[in-house]
Amino acid sequence: MKSKNDRPLILIVHGPNLNLLGEREPDVYGTMTLDDLNREILLYAYSRECDVLFFQSNHEGEIIDFLHDKRHSADGLVINPGAYTHYSIAIRDAIAGIHFPAIEVHLSDIHKREDFRKQSVIRDVCIDQISGLGKESYTKGLDAILEYLKKNQ
Ligand code: DQA
Repeated sequence: MKSKNDRPLILIVHGPNLNLLGEREPDVYGTMTLDDLNREILLYAYSRECDVLFFQSNHEGEIIDFLHDKRHSADGLVINPGAYTHYSIAIRDAIAGIHFPAIEVHLSDIHKREDFRKQSVIRDVCIDQISGLGKESYTKGLDAILEYLKKNQ
């Protein structure tokens, strides 16, 4: 897959409640804020020579509109769909309908929590799922997308 940009442009999408990182259930998600997390991702993206565009929303339709809007300009997607992971067929369909690779990431290990979190309706429209590594879920997600783009260019 040929990059549309000089440097690959990867969308970083955070779903509902991730705006409250740092305050929200710190025993599960840690004390880092969303700004802290984005700063770490941005630094990592510089080191990997790619560009990132951040988006966070608590609303399903806004996430879908964002993906539609960027569908011709981005090269890849790292998405933490938050609770939408477990039931949003609409976000799944939006990812299935865009023509660049996506990866699903989670800060916590969704396989070691409540049963309802073990199911993802997003997983099989993504190249992989990375869960439970905190901020490294995102940086490893970025690596996986870049690797995929390199192999498929
Ligand atoms: C989460 C896990 C989801 O189950 C939860 O609803 C979230 C965050 C994570 O990053 O660990 O909001 O996606």
